[in-house]
Amino acid sequence: MASPMSLLAALGLAATALLAAAPARAETLSIACGSIGKELQLCQSLTADWGHRTGNTVNVVAMPPSDSDRLALYQQILGAGSATIDLFEIDTIWPGLLGSNFIDLKPYAHGAEADDFPSTIANDTQGGRLVALPLFVDAGLLYYRRDLLEKYHAPVPQSWDDLTATAKRIEAAERAAGHAGLWGYVFQAKAYEGLTCNVVEWVASRGGGAVIDPHGAITVDNPAAATALDDAASWIRTIAPEGVLNYTEEESRGVFQSGNAVFMRNWPYALALANSPGSPVRGQVGVAPLPQGTGADARHAATLGGWQIAVSKYSHHQQIAADLAVFLASRAAVKRWAVEGGYTPPIPALYDDPDVKRANPNFALLLPIFRDAVPRPSAIAGTRYDAVSSALWNAAYRVLTGDAHGAEALAGLDRQLHRIERGGW
Ligand code: GLC
Repeated sequence: MASPMSLLAALGLAATALLAAAPARAETLSIACGSIGKELQLCQSLTADWGHRTGNTVNVVAMPPSDSDRLALYQQILGAGSATIDLFEIDTIWPGLLGSNFIDLKPYAHGAEADDFPSTIANDTQGGRLVALPLFVDAGLLYYRRDLLEKYHAPVPQSWDDLTATAKRIEAAERAAGHAGLWGYVFQAKAYEGLTCNVVEWVASRGGGAVIDPHGAITVDNPAAATALDDAASWIRTIAPEGVLNYTEEESRGVFQSGNAVFMRNWPYALALANSPGSPVRGQVGVAPLPQGTGADARHAATLGGWQIAVSKYSHHQQIAADLAVFLASRAAVKRWAVEGGYTPPIPALYDDPDVKRANPNFALLLPIFRDAVPRPSAIAGTRYDAVSSALWNAAYRVLTGDAHGAEALAGLDRQLHRIERGGW
């Protein structure tokens, strides 16, 4: 007969085995996802897959399309220490700003992050903590209408002057031929983060630096930057509709994809959509590096962007949320972002993947653009990045609306940035 002790031990073992066999208690998680292009759709489909696999439920909460509105919402939720959202899809410029609200994902990633672009992982690491895992990377691109350039024997513009001249010429000729609603160039000029991205490209491509240099020096008040803003202001109502002053990414894509613009500045996601079945410009859309200035330091410049997934430290389900984050950032999942949504993967090896290449033949062109992309000064400005960026986009907006000249707006911006810097970043 078994002793009472061994019976107890056997019962204990049986209970442990039962616990191990029973599924963990099903939880309901909430994730904040973006709504640009197929972002929301992919977020829903991938989180549903993870839900089926693990027995949990995921509520996908759709975020506003403007990056800056979304940041304000995140700051409200996180500032209140609220547990309502467990996972946040965050912009590449936010790890410094929001990172202290997120858990360290390193213990959960088990080294898988080594497959990602090292610069992306460096950006997502704050004080030694991996506060987010990348889903896709972004860089600004020039979109053009291949059919219109062919019709007017115009090459893809290499400089901003070429772009302006070609846009004017084609716009005038097409309008005269009856296409009254055609514009030369659409981009993002609403007063928000997207305008900062455009300004960084205009300035860097003319040799005007990156607003704040890597050592923290404020460099934005320079003649190349002033020219950049004045040139952009000259586009409004000539090659760009006045409405561009209220455009984010999706409004620009709406005009371009409906066939009403020769050129567009946008991120890679717009390509798959513009060439998708049902798009009026299907098969007529090309992408190229954005134009450059004409001076000695001129270069093609693309602003670096991208999105990551982070887990809130206020979540009541941190461990399970971390499991979902690792799943969403896995090679298989980011491949789906690329194949089904045209989002450019954060894993360099995926640019050689046959399925990714088949779905996105242009991705090969993008790899060097990512390598040379210009980061915004978010690493140096840290928690003050939002103040820096809003000062920048507001100064640029004043020039675009004709309220100031470039040089005057930049002198004011320089003073403002020094106030924000307060003697050191
Ligand atoms: C894209 C970029 C992001 C940028 C935003 C601006 O989503 O990936 O980095 O801040 O556009 O609108």
